[in-house]
Amino acid sequence: MTLRLGDLAPNFQAETTEGNIDFYEYLGDGWGVLFSHPADYTPVCTTELGTVAKLKDEFAKRNTKVMALSVDGVESHKGWISDINETQHTEVNFPIIADEDKKISELYDMIHPNSNENFTVRSVFVIGNDKKIKLIITYPASTGRNFDELLRVIDSLQLTANYSVATPANWKKGEDVVIAPAIKNEDIPAKFPKGHKVIKPYLRTTPQPDL
Ligand code: BEZ
Repeated sequence: MTLRLGDLAPNFQAETTEGNIDFYEYLGDGWGVLFSHPADYTPVCTTELGTVAKLKDEFAKRNTKVMALSVDGVESHKGWISDINETQHTEVNFPIIADEDKKISELYDMIHPNSNENFTVRSVFVIGNDKKIKLIITYPASTGRNFDELLRVIDSLQLTANYSVATPANWKKGEDVVIAPAIKNEDIPAKFPKGHKVIKPYLRTTPQPDL
């Protein structure tokens, strides 16, 4: 099944390191990140899961719950978590799905057979509080992900969900944003009372509206 931006994120029930979980129940009315990694007891994945654990407060600030997945079993995950905690100086604080039958990996198209037939690649799905898919990124097994970038995209997505703006290249929270092309010039002052700049008729910026 090919999932695309804007599609409803399929719900599932999964065996995880924190028991059996219904994905939608786990997300509640917040946002979610579902991310896969190739295998337990591998070096890059160890650093990735440790990094995500350390970002717990950052995800919580964004009302975002995280869930990881690989095709290894729960006992393997649990043993590996001890290693992650020890080597990355943290406590893994999110569930890891044990997708041994590959049901969820296939549902989310996380196995790319020309890369590897048996293991999931590094897929990331950001799911909005409407349960729709807002972001899909796929990294190869050999490249650890940049989770600061993931937080940055969630900031952008949550901002643009609430205001008629978009975020420019390399935007970071607090920087000016781009006014959506659909907004007419005459409507800008009422919508963006903090002021705006017209750099070109199609390139208009305003301070981040929710700060
Ligand atoms: C890793 O997590 O280190 C890894 C996993 C699969 C292939 C290459 C690296």
